[in-house]
Formats: sequence, C-alpha cells, structure tokens
Amino acid sequence: MSAPGRSQAHMPARDRAKGSPVSRPGPPLWLLAELTYRCPLHCVFCYNPVDFATQSSELSTDEWLRVLREGRELGAVQCGFSGGEPLLRDDLETLVAEAHRLGYYTNLLTSGVGLTAERAAALEAAGLDHVQLSFQDSTREVNDFLSHTKTFELKSRVARLIKEQGWPMVMNVVIHRLNIDHIDRIIAMAAELGAEYLELANTQYYSWAYVNRAQLLPTHEQLRRAESLTDAWRARLEGRMKIFFVAPDYHEGRAKKCVNGWGSVFLNVAPDGTALPCHTAKMLPGLEFPNVREHSLRHAWYESEGFNRYRGTGWMKEPCSTCEHKERDLGGCRCQAYLLTQDAEAADPVCEKSPHHGLVVQAVATAERGAAEHPLVFRDPVSSRRLGACAQAELATQVDNETGAIATR
Ligand code: FES
Repeated sequence: MSAPGRSQAHMPARDRAKGSPVSRPGPPLWLLAELTYRCPLHCVFCYNPVDFATQSSELSTDEWLRVLREGRELGAVQCGFSGGEPLLRDDLETLVAEAHRLGYYTNLLTSGVGLTAERAAALEAAGLDHVQLSFQDSTREVNDFLSHTKTFELKSRVARLIKEQGWPMVMNVVIHRLNIDHIDRIIAMAAELGAEYLELANTQYYSWAYVNRAQLLPTHEQLRRAESLTDAWRARLEGRMKIFFVAPDYHEGRAKKCVNGWGSVFLNVAPDGTALPCHTAKMLPGLEFPNVREHSLRHAWYESEGFNRYRGTGWMKEPCSTCEHKERDLGGCRCQAYLLTQDAEAADPVCEKSPHHGLVVQAVATAERGAAEHPLVFRDPVSSRRLGACAQAELATQVDNETGAIATR
C-alpha cells in the first residue's frame, strides 16, 4: 500500500506529465452498492446503463460483504443500497445488518416494490437507518405510465409502512416535462404521506433520460413556475418538510460539479463488481475500471487509472484549464460531455463557455417549440439489447439534435 500523497500513480496522467502536484484524494465518504440492475419498473429516465440487459452478472452475498468491509476500512460513512430494485435481492437484510454492524449510516433507495410489512420489519431489525422512496408523479395515470407498471397504490402503501417503522422518509421524484406541471400536487402528496424530505430532482440527461431527452426536457416557463411554487410550499411547510429542488443544468448555462467531483467522495460499485466514480462512467472510452472480484476497493479508489483520470483539474483543456470557475465545477459532467461531443475531456456543453454549448441551446429551443412526437423508449431488456448493440458514441450521434428522435435499427 502506498503512503498518502506519495505515489505518482495517484496523479492524473496529464498532471504527471506537467509535474504539477495533486494531493492524495480524501476517502470515499459515500459508498453506493448497486446490488442489481433487475427492476420491475421500466422508467423512461432510469440512470442505469442503457445496455444493462447485457450485464447480468451480480456479486454474491460474500462478495458484497467484503465490499462493505473494505469500504468502511477506507473511511466510507454512508452506504446506500440501490439498483435496479435492491429488494429483488433476498440477501438485502444480511447486507444491511453487516453495514449497520460496521458503523455505516444505511440508506435504501427503492421503488417500494417488494417492501412488504415483513421485510420492512426485518430491515428495521437489521438496522436500516432510512428509506428513499421514489414516486413518478402525484397521479396514478402518470406514475403508472412513466414506470410502465401499476405501482401508484403500492407506493402509497409503502410510504405508510415506512412511517410505521419510524424511519425518516425521503421521497424522490424525478422531474421533467411530463410531470413538472403537477409539482403543486406532488408536494402536497409528499406532505400528506408524511415525508420529512422531498427531493425534486430535475432529470439529468444521460442513460435512458438521454435517449428520451426530447420528450422529457421542460420549457423555461415550466421551470420558472415550478420553482416559484416550490418556494411557496417551502415557506408553508417550514419545520415540517425540507424540499430540495435540484435545478436542471441544461437551462442554467453553468456546469455542475458532478458527483461532487470525480473520485472525490462517491464510490459506486455496479452489480457485477465494477468500481466506478459515477453510475455511468463505464461507457467512457479508453478507461479501465477495476472489478472488486480482482482488486481491493483501496486499489480502485487510490491507484486505478479509471478513478484518477478526471480527478482534480490537471486533465482539463481549454476553455476549462484557464477558467476562473474550474475549481467550482471541475469541468462539469464527464459522461454528459462525452454523450454530447464524443469527447470525454471536453468542457461540459451545458456551460456557456463550451464551444459545443450550441448543442444544449438547440435542445432547449426544440423543447420550447413543443414535445417530440416520436414514442418514449421504456427501460426494458428488449430496448436495452437494441441500444446496447451500438457503441455509446454511435448512440450519441443517433439522437437527432433537431428532433430528439433516436434512429432505430
Ligand atoms: Fe458520469 Fe457525471 S454522470 S461524470
């Protein structure tokens, strides 16, 4: 094991070439265990890779237990169990119990499908600290349409179960053109169900959301109205429910520090054991990410090329490398840069300074003219295999910037 801050292997390649020092990163504070890509829902904005159906391998219980131990030894303090739908793993209670024993703050990110009263009681006994329940909308019609399942009533029942177990409830709703006009009712529903936190997360356009961007991107006016309604509710519910409105970067003209900075606090382990700095980094070309079946998490975090490549600012080129905001946004999202420009080292095109910003302006202008007429692509194994058959760069170029249509094969 290398001593902190000593190894050249800790430095991104370009920094090593320039000889500029990069301090050793801190520990991964937040370990996300993506237990499975299997999911009963078919959400059109799912952040799982579009080719998830070609990746069916899953770590065994023993392998996950080792990942949890190694993550804690590295310094991780929070452990999320997500998927797909993590409740499809029948060893979830075992994993939660071990994470609790190790001292993590544990968090279950679920659609609610599979959370029976028995399992809720078992997870509570195992030490689960909190549950994040996703809803698609405040109406049965839109919720069930967007997830392509009949789950609205079930989610309301699960919300009550969460309260009965005494867990603080975080309700998460991904916001986009098809539900943003219901924001008033969504917030009212969260308050009625007793959520302590409501996350209104505007869609990030990668994975399935990128495929469906032309149908999901809201207009400026929709956003403005949603934000002002949210502000009014915040004032009304002060002290009862905290509301987070995650603004969409397409409309802001400013890049965000994605995952709080590549390889800075967030460590994602995919179902097959690939260690990743974000959910979708595996699609970036020319990057190797270690698998926990062959490497320790410590190696992945500190030594691997995949985690080091975009750490800090040394990898940047113009306009990022001389930008006054480079420490604030760290160049934005690498996956978004790649999807839009086929260059993972480019400035995130949501930034006004990006030479490719016109692509984002064009996408928003198309949204202003009206929703696309071609059908939504639901997250299902058939579509996944079809999309997985084309490389990501090819997929990116198949999404027509003018209409948002995705070419079918
Ligand atoms: Fe991969 Fe933003 S989603 S860096």
